[in-house]
Amino acid sequence: MTTRSKMKNIKKFVIFGNPVEHSKSPQMHNAGFKYLNIDANYETKHLLNGNELKDTFLTNDFYGANITVPHKEEAYRQADEVVGIAKHIGAVNTYIKKNDKILAYNTDGLGFLKAVKSFGKLNKILIIGAGGTARAIAVALKQEKKEVFLLNRSQNKLEFFINLGINTYTWDNFKMNNFDLVINSTSAGLKDDLYPCDKKLLEKLFKKASFAFDCIYGKQTPFLRLALAMNLKAKDGEDMLLYQGVLAFELFTDTKATDKLIEAMRKGLTSSYTKRGKLK
Ligand SMILES: NC(=O)c1ccc[n+]([C@@H]2O[C@H](COP(=O)([O-])OP(=O)(O)OC[C@H]3O[C@@H](n4cnc5c(N)ncnc54)[C@H](OP(=O)(O)O)[C@@H]3O)[C@@H](O)[C@H]2O)c1
Repeated sequence: MTTRSKMKNIKKFVIFGNPVEHSKSPQMHNAGFKYLNIDANYETKHLLNGNELKDTFLTNDFYGANITVPHKEEAYRQADEVVGIAKHIGAVNTYIKKNDKILAYNTDGLGFLKAVKSFGKLNKILIIGAGGTARAIAVALKQEKKEVFLLNRSQNKLEFFINLGINTYTWDNFKMNNFDLVINSTSAGLKDDLYPCDKKLLEKLFKKASFAFDCIYGKQTPFLRLALAMNLKAKDGEDMLLYQGVLAFELFTDTKATDKLIEAMRKGLTSSYTKRGKLK
């Protein structure tokens, strides 16, 4: 087989975002393809204009895609068919081409549920933040019939959660409660050293809680450091990133992930990264 015809048989996958160069998805998915001996490649594509998402996906002959910030809502609007929990979230992070149609899914919320499974039984949960990630987590938790509360620094974006039947607060009107789990789904701590709310309030919350989860991964944020210092069981967002990827990979390959595949993908996620998205 010539190189050109071999190239033609490779299934192409991509992650769209702006920015996207930092994404660890290529190394995670390529590790999965390598483990299963699937002739496929997963790359990054920096997309400035979300309106061009569907066209770019189709004209480049991608078989599947992940979509990251800031294009998840636009990806939802452009899909031919939205499947499952994504219908309630209003944003998607996964595209698959089937019979020339784009099917769209959201694996962030279910990825989160898998990531906190190791915490055991959780009843009352407080989400801090009200962005796209909070939406996915809130819908997934509501589907699990959990009691969900939400705290955001501003009133912006709260309507979605009120419509879900969630008790929502801003910093000005927050009511303390016994939460089992406190989640940081804000970007506070990502590029700065900020807490997602007043530190004293966080200390009060952590005194009553058993678990803390930070959606941010790859660093110990002030939120995570405080939770660990106060002896909570706490984890960062790496497992959430892994499991949203595993769930997308299952959709891409129409397979059920085994523990060994998940381990291979985890290794890929944490391995060194090359610009073209191939494992070293
Ligand atoms: N682990 C994973 O797989 C995964 C997946 C997706 C995202 N994430 C992480 O999750 C975080 C949120 O992402 P997103 O897409 O939901 O972001 P987003 O839509 O931009 O929402 C950000 C939220 O954070 C709040 N916020 C921002 N800066 C804050 C500060 N200094 N103090 C308090 N609140 C602040 C905003 O409040 P206002 O409404 O008042 O502006 C908003 O509610 C990011 O750090 C991202 O890296 C992780």
